[in-house]
Amino acid sequence: MGQSVTLSAWLTDKSGKGKIQFLKLRDGSGFVQATVFKGDVSEEVFEAAKRLTQEQAVTVTGEVRADERAPGGVELSVRELTPVSENHAEYPITPKEHGIEFLMDHRHLWLRHRRPWAIMRVRDCIQRSVVEFFHGEGFVRFDSPFFTPNAAEGTTELFEIDLFGEDKAYLSQTGQLHAEAGALAFGKVYTFGPTFRAEKSKTRRHLLEFWMIEPEVAPSNHTENMALQERFVSFLVRRVLEQCATELEVLGRDLGKLRGAAEGNYPRVTYTEALDIVRKHIEEGDLPDNVQADVQPVEWGDDLGAPHETILGHHFDRPVIIEKYPAAIKAFYMQPDPTDARVALCDDMIAPEGYGEIIGGSERIHDYELLKGRIEHEGLPLEAFDWYLDLRRMGSVPHAGFGMGLERVVAWITGIDHIREAIPFPRMLTRMKP
Ligand code: 4AD
Ligand code: MG
Repeated sequence: MGQSVTLSAWLTDKSGKGKIQFLKLRDGSGFVQATVFKGDVSEEVFEAAKRLTQEQAVTVTGEVRADERAPGGVELSVRELTPVSENHAEYPITPKEHGIEFLMDHRHLWLRHRRPWAIMRVRDCIQRSVVEFFHGEGFVRFDSPFFTPNAAEGTTELFEIDLFGEDKAYLSQTGQLHAEAGALAFGKVYTFGPTFRAEKSKTRRHLLEFWMIEPEVAPSNHTENMALQERFVSFLVRRVLEQCATELEVLGRDLGKLRGAAEGNYPRVTYTEALDIVRKHIEEGDLPDNVQADVQPVEWGDDLGAPHETILGHHFDRPVIIEKYPAAIKAFYMQPDPTDARVALCDDMIAPEGYGEIIGGSERIHDYELLKGRIEHEGLPLEAFDWYLDLRRMGSVPHAGFGMGLERVVAWITGIDHIREAIPFPRMLTRMKP
């Protein structure tokens, strides 16, 4: 307070009359109001302030003053002001309401506004905390390739790449298989990079390109894997609560709804138990708002759909871990449950409030013959998986890991209703630009 500061800023909005101008400024790190009194500044400075247009770049020097009425509690009393450049076009995003498609078409500019500002800073906090968490647990960051010879999560969602007409590769759906090589080399690794899925469905939860964090641990097992997931997610939520209070306030996030997730003690139910919870909610008509009344229960053996995950998410006050899905609907590499071969030693973590699956993970098949049989059974090309089978031919141990979709977690923690706002430039069926 009372100090003179200089801001490299942009004008977000302006008002005023007569002898006073109110400038709403942003400098990237935050937002502040600056006041220009005619009596405090030269004639040129006052006129320059009056001529400023929205999103014009400007250098402003002034005195910091406490002001209860100002957003953020401080204001700047302007002494000097210099426009840095002239705008060559009228800024299209005005303070009035715009439709989401218009805003997405102007995403390169919309990023300058308060809501994306808050969401992207929470995303940054989560990304930093991911690195902090795994470093603290003794993991090595390990980069899986983006071009891969393998389909790991089913063949339908692959983006195919033509390798000079001679061969084919795919954009990676997951870094997992290569991370398994990393785990057998380093014990504990995690990947953190973009992954690609040719999702033809248009939903609030799916992107064509999303960032995934995939830890892999050898030796390890299903039980340790679930415990790691809970430590990880609760750590991320705690970090955001500690470091992003302003951002969450800008977004109007109900912090009470994040408290359970920050504490831990995530409930764990089996797939079979989860079906009962869903059936009961449907029978009693006890459904969350965004679930249609004619939703059907799940038959044992079928996958949970988005409405079922929403029902489960609303049943608990914090993320819930659903384990032991039918092996037939899960990936080929998952270890069967020794007590019931129909189910796999796998789990999904479902976020509360209808945000759906944020994590998928499992113990991996470590037996060479069993894994080879599963690859053949799925009709996958053995030659493409020969290197992967080497991991079972030499020094194989039970191991486990999981994948967390960054944008799903950003959407949940920030409380936004669509995944497209959780990444700077979303890539979807209907959006490749800007
Ligand atoms: O459940 P998935 O398919 O699991 C895997 O890919 C495993 N290989 C992970 C592993 O064990 N290493 O995907 C993991 C997570 C999902 O839980 C979800 O959060 C996210 O990735 N995800 C998507 N996020 C945005 N858009 C999409 N199209 C997504 N598909 C999956
Ligand atoms: Mg999954």
